Amino acid sequence: MKKPGEYNELFRSLGSEWKWLLGYISRYKLHIAVYVIMGIVAAAMGLGVSVSSKYLIDAVLDKNVHTIVTSAAAAVFLGLAQIVINAVISRVAAMAGTKISSEIRENIYEHIVFSKWESVRRYHSGDLLNRIEGDAGAVASSIVTFIPGVFTKLTQFVGCLALVLYYDPTMAIFAFLSTPFLALSSRITAKMTRKYNKESREMNGKLISFYSESIQNLQMIKAFDITSRYVEQIRRNLALYRKIRLDHDKFATIMTACMAVIGLIVSYACYGWGVWRLWNGIISFGTMTLFLQISGKLTASFSSLVSLAPSAISIATAAGRIMEITQMPLENGGDADKAARMSDSVRKNGVTIECENLTYTYDDGTEPVVKDVSFIARAGETIAFVGPSGEGKTTVLRLILGLLEPDSGSIIMRTDDGEAIKASESTRRFCSYVPQENAVFSGCIADNLRIVCPEASDDDLKCVLEAADAWSFIERLPLGIYTPVDEKGVNFSEGQIQRISIARALLRDAAVIVMDEATSALDAATEERVLANMMKAYPNRTRIITTHRPSMLRYCTRIYRISTDGTLTQVSAEEAAG
Ligand SMILES: Nc1ncnc2c1ncn2[C@@H]1O[C@H](COP(=O)(O)OP(=O)(O)O)[C@@H](O)[C@H]1O
Ligand SMILES: [Mg+2]
Repeated sequence: MKKPGEYNELFRSLGSEWKWLLGYISRYKLHIAVYVIMGIVAAAMGLGVSVSSKYLIDAVLDKNVHTIVTSAAAAVFLGLAQIVINAVISRVAAMAGTKISSEIRENIYEHIVFSKWESVRRYHSGDLLNRIEGDAGAVASSIVTFIPGVFTKLTQFVGCLALVLYYDPTMAIFAFLSTPFLALSSRITAKMTRKYNKESREMNGKLISFYSESIQNLQMIKAFDITSRYVEQIRRNLALYRKIRLDHDKFATIMTACMAVIGLIVSYACYGWGVWRLWNGIISFGTMTLFLQISGKLTASFSSLVSLAPSAISIATAAGRIMEITQMPLENGGDADKAARMSDSVRKNGVTIECENLTYTYDDGTEPVVKDVSFIARAGETIAFVGPSGEGKTTVLRLILGLLEPDSGSIIMRTDDGEAIKASESTRRFCSYVPQENAVFSGCIADNLRIVCPEASDDDLKCVLEAADAWSFIERLPLGIYTPVDEKGVNFSEGQIQRISIARALLRDAAVIVMDEATSALDAATEERVLANMMKAYPNRTRIITTHRPSMLRYCTRIYRISTDGTLTQVSAEEAAG
């Protein structure tokens, strides 16, 4: 047996998800109002058709030609008008639906990219894709079909009930016969639908993640000769997914059949009662026809109202998943105006980075990765962070780039005339970055560089590619800088991709250049050439690098080693190499 608390909890969370959703979609209230009104009008016209046919039949029996003509004309007009309105609704729904769903997607995407990096990275990319695609679609459809549907079906149901009450109040008893079943079924349906939605969404996200990860890592999977294991795994996951769907379908089918039986009983009871009243001459033949039509409509609108419950729950579940995204904390932005004001001086004279007593612990970590760290990096200097893998080098760079906010301590960027600003999203305009991992996009080499400077000419590209020692290999390609880069850059060697990445960072022409093991795949000679070029061509930049290579260290002004406890000590090149 289920505890009542469980249902209360379920209904409470459904309630809060719907509340959020209604707030979120309130900007579409005009759209919604138009749909609702059109839907109600169409439903009312449908009822009007039934009423006119009652008058038509009664008039036929009375041989009243005038009423025959007017009620027949009314029925024809209302029937046609209903068709027109329905066509308009469906066209408007399609037009607004596509607009609204793309706006919602854009909005979610915006939230993802503007949220704090640390919050976003907790989600698997497959899960996020699923939210952008699947859940956003469900929320959009709530606006164009679900909410107007509720009103239309309610109008139909209440209208039928009102007509029945008006023409024969005793009939209404039958309509209420079904209420207890409705109450019971809504509870069971709510729980089962919620469970199904949760399971199927999770499974969906898992499948998307599995597809994308395994396809991206295909080379590794093949090399380990474990391809068939992956096929087996996807077969198992798909079977699981099928089972979830079929289980739910079984439940839905049984529920629908039960409701249909109840509907049938109600409508036959209505029908029988009508026949009995007609037999006894209490109601007219026309009223009987009206009941025949209305009892059908009553059952139909009743079961469609019942079927709205699972949709309401699916939509709430989707809304909850979007709500999570929109509630991620946004980056704080920092002082954008000040950063803009400083940018000329920074570009001309470079910038000094001053870190004092920085401490940082990842949200899911217990020990600080960076503890009480202080250092300074001036324009024209090259500062290196060394230390074994996993000691926090990348973390320090993320702090400098304002991707992470320190728990305590400060990172200040200072111009040579003494103006200072805290590192944040805003100071990223002073920075350029070569990531540790391969970070290229599909498109050609030139596209990859122009990401950071769309107006760069081909000559500008050549210039930075030369400095990054990439020109020598690009020059030999038949398409040169217009050579396509495949997904994840698999048509280039890792060292080539690294050099393209360095060229991109140079193209940005920023005062601070942050390089995270940026030359790890280069041979010592190439690495040295790249560094020497950079120093010569861009002398007043502040270079911050992480590395394992002794060869790099000769070029560094200061070298800091990060220890396991997160603290920093300055070391000599010999100590760092040893
Ligand atoms: N996004 C993250 N969330 C939680 N822990 C992280 C995250 N990134 C790195 N870490 C942890 O922080 C430590 C330092 O990582 P990192 O700075 O990448 O090291 P390095 O660059 O020196 O190899 C590691 O123990 C790692 O597990
Ligand atoms: Mg690292």
